[in-house]
Amino acid sequence: MTDVAYQKCINPDCGAEFDCGQAMFKCPKCGELLDIWYNWDKIKVPKKMSDFSRRWGSRDNKLDFSGVWRFRELLNFCEDKYKVTIGEGQTVLQRNDALAEYTGMNPGRLHLQYEGLNPSGSFKDNGMAASFSHAKMVGAKSSACASTGNTSAAVALYAHSCGVKCLVFIGSGRIAFGKLSQAMDYGAQTIQILGDFDDCMRQVQAVCTKLGLYLLNSLNPFRLEGQKTIMYRIIEQSGWQPADWIIVPGGNLGNSSAFGKAFYELKQLGLIEKIPRMAIINATGADTLTELVNNRNLKWNDGRPDQSVIDGFYAELTARNFSPHTCASAIEISRPVNLKKCLRAIDICNGVVRAVSDEEIKDAKALVGKHGLGCEPASAATIAGLKHLRQEGIIAAGEKVACVLTGHPLKDPELTVNYHQKKQGQFSNPPIEAPNDLDEIIKLIN
Ligand code: F0G
Repeated sequence: MTDVAYQKCINPDCGAEFDCGQAMFKCPKCGELLDIWYNWDKIKVPKKMSDFSRRWGSRDNKLDFSGVWRFRELLNFCEDKYKVTIGEGQTVLQRNDALAEYTGMNPGRLHLQYEGLNPSGSFKDNGMAASFSHAKMVGAKSSACASTGNTSAAVALYAHSCGVKCLVFIGSGRIAFGKLSQAMDYGAQTIQILGDFDDCMRQVQAVCTKLGLYLLNSLNPFRLEGQKTIMYRIIEQSGWQPADWIIVPGGNLGNSSAFGKAFYELKQLGLIEKIPRMAIINATGADTLTELVNNRNLKWNDGRPDQSVIDGFYAELTARNFSPHTCASAIEISRPVNLKKCLRAIDICNGVVRAVSDEEIKDAKALVGKHGLGCEPASAATIAGLKHLRQEGIIAAGEKVACVLTGHPLKDPELTVNYHQKKQGQFSNPPIEAPNDLDEIIKLIN
C-alpha cells in the first residue's frame, strides 16, 4: 500500500513524506500539518463520477453500502480488511424552497445536505470510518480526542465498535447535553477540563504524545479523507454535477479543508470540470478565520501563509484572556488547528468567510426545524451565512447552493427548548398551557 498512498507535510519548505503505516498528527520534521496523497496512476479510479453508481446494486456488501467506502478509490490508503464501517454516510441532499425564500434564493436552488443522519448524529462519522480504519491498520489499542461534543460522540461510538479503548477531553460546561450523553453512554472515559476546547486540544496532543494514544481530532489526516465523501455524495445526489456553492460552518476547520482537497483531486483526475465556490461560516463569538482572512488579509500564499499575522492575532487573544463564546457550542473554537489547510481550501475554491450572530443562528435553526429535518445550532450558521451572502450579492439567487447541515437537532435539545419556550426569537413556537378540560382544549386549537 505504501506505494499507492503516503503522508506528506503541507509546508512546501519541508515537504517531508512518510508512509501510511505510521500514526502521526504533525510532521515530525517541522511540526506542520500532514496530508494524504496518492499515486493516482497506481489506482483504478473510475473514469467518471457516475461509475460509482454501480455500487448501489450491491448494497449487501458493507463497503458498498457505506457512504464513505463506496468511493474507496478516492481514499485508497488501506486494504479492505482494515476498513471499518457502521453504516455511515446514508445522508441525503434535499431541496428546500421555504429556506430558499428566507435566504433570498430562487425556488429549487437551495439544497441541504443532512449529515445529522449519520450513526452518531453528525458528519464526524465520515471521518471516523476512515481514521479508525487507519487505527486498525497501525494496530492502535487506545484512542483519544478533544471535542466540543460531536467528535467525542463519534469517536466513542466507533472505538467501541472496533474494540479500541477511548478517552475524550471536553471543556467543562462547554458541551451540549445530547453529545455528552453519547460519550458516556458509548463507554468513553470522559475527562472534563476546566477550560475551553482550545485548552482541551492542547492537552490531548500532549497526552497522546506521552502515552502513545491514537489521536482522532481533525489533525489526523486520515480522518479528513473520510470527510471528503460528503462532497462526493452532494455531487452524486445532484446528477453527478457539483453545486455552484458549498456552505459549511467553520470550527476547527477540518471539513472545509477536506472539501477543498476533495475538489482539487476530482479536478486533477478529470472527474469534475468546475470547482464550486465555498463559504465558511463562523459564529461572531468565535470568528478567528473571519478576522484573519477578511480583516488581516491572511492568504494561503502557495503554502507560505504569513505566520506573523497568525502569531500576532493569537498573542492578542492571549493578552485579552479571550475565550470564545457562542450558542453554537460545536464551533466555539478560537485557535482552529486546520487553519492553514483551510486557507488552501479557500484558495482552491475561491472561498469566502463570514460570521453570523447567535440570534441569526437560532432563528435559522428554528426554520430548518420547521421546514426541514432539523439541525443543531452550528449547522444553521450556514443558512444565516447564506442570507448575508445573498444580501451582499456575493451569491446570486439563481445559483445552486448546498448547505452542509453538520449535526442532528437532538444534539442540543436545551437550546431548542429555551428558544421556543422562552420566546427568544421571531420563530419561537412555545407550547400552550391548557387546563385538563376538553372544551377548553378545543378552544385553544387553531
Ligand atoms: N458543525 C458541527 C455540528 C460540529 O460538531 C463541528 C465541529 C463543526 C460544525 C465544525 O467543523 O471543525 O470541521 O470546522 N465539531 C468538533 C467537535 C470541533 O469536537 O465535535 P470543523
